[in-house]
Amino acid sequence: MKKLIVVLFALAVLISAVPAFAEGELVGVAMPTNSLQRWNQDGQNMKAQLETAGYEVILEYANNDVALQISQIENMILSEVKVLVIASIDGGALGDVLKTASENSIPVIAYDRLITGTEYVDYYTSFDNYRVGKFQGDFIVEALDLENAEGPFNIEYFGGSPDDNNAHLFYQGAIDVLQPYVDAGKLVNPSGQKDFETVAILGWGTDDAQARMDNLINGYYADGTPLDVVLSPNDSLALGIANSLTAAGFTEENWPVLTGQDCDIPNTINIINGKQSMSIFKDTRTLASKTVEMVGQILSGEEVEVNNTTDYDNGVKVVPSYLNDPVFADINNYKELLIDSGYYTEDQLTVK
Ligand code: BGC
Repeated sequence: MKKLIVVLFALAVLISAVPAFAEGELVGVAMPTNSLQRWNQDGQNMKAQLETAGYEVILEYANNDVALQISQIENMILSEVKVLVIASIDGGALGDVLKTASENSIPVIAYDRLITGTEYVDYYTSFDNYRVGKFQGDFIVEALDLENAEGPFNIEYFGGSPDDNNAHLFYQGAIDVLQPYVDAGKLVNPSGQKDFETVAILGWGTDDAQARMDNLINGYYADGTPLDVVLSPNDSLALGIANSLTAAGFTEENWPVLTGQDCDIPNTINIINGKQSMSIFKDTRTLASKTVEMVGQILSGEEVEVNNTTDYDNGVKVVPSYLNDPVFADINNYKELLIDSGYYTEDQLTVK
C-alpha cells in the first residue's frame, strides 16, 4: 500500500511538471501592420512559439487599417479561436468586436498595446512603457550633461500615434524627466510645439515624421539656429527625422542627439554611423514567450502570472498585466545586446 501511494505521488508530481498539452487548439493573433520590422518579428515569434507549444494559429496583419483589423478579429471569432491575442491599431476601437468575443467566451490578451474603453479585455502583456520614455529622457539629460551645463539647448519634441496608449506613456515618461530642465531654462523649444497632440504623429509613419521635421527645420533652424536634441519616441519616427536632417545638410558636426525605440535594423545601423544616439531594445522573443505562457495558463485554467495589477487602467477597469523590462541600447552596448544575444547577425547590421 505504502509503495502504491509513493508511486501515485510520483506520478502526480510528474504529471503536474508536464506543460499542459495544447492539443491543436486554435489561437488568433492580430497584429497591426507588417510594414514595421518589430510587428513582423512579434507575429513570427508568436506563431512559431505557439506552434511549438502545440497550438494552431491564425496570424493576421491589418495594414494599420482599423476596420480591417476588426473584420480579421470577427473572422477569428467565427473560426472559433480559443484565445485572442491582439496588438491593436486603435486601442479604443475594439469594444464592439470584443463584446462578441466575450459572448463566445473567448478570452482576450492585449499584446504590447493596451485595449481601452472596454471591459472585454482580460490581460495585458507588454514592456514597461513609461520606463521607455524615462530612458529616453535620462539619455538626453546625460548626453547634454544637463545637471552641470548651463545651456540653453534647443530641443524639438515628437510623440507617437495618439490612438496608441503607449504613445502617451512614452511621452509622459520622457517629459517627466526633462521638465525640470525646461523649467530651469536649460532646454528651450524654438518652435513652441510641445503639447502631445501637436507633436504626435498619427500612425507612427516615417514619412510623416520626416515631413514634420522638414517643416521644423525650414521654420526655425534654416537661419543656422543650432538644433541640439530631438526627442523621438521610436525608431520609425527617428528614421524619418534622420532622413530629414540628412536632406537638410546636417553633418557629424551639428547632428542633434536623437532618441528612438525598437532597435530596428536601419536604426541600429544609424546608431553605428552616428545618426541616431540611442534606442530601446524590447526583445520580442521574450514578449512572445510570456504571452504564449499566458495563453497556456488561461486554457488550462491555471492561475495566470501577472506582475502589475495597479497601473494599466483602460478607462473601464484595471487590466492585470505582465510587464517585461525594456533595455537601453546605444553605440557602447549594441553588440552585446543585439549580436551576442543572437537577435541579429553582424551581417544584418552591415551597410551593403
Ligand atoms: C510599440 C513600439 C512601436 C510603436 C510603433 C508601439 O505601440 O510599443 O515598440 O515602435 O508602437 O509601431
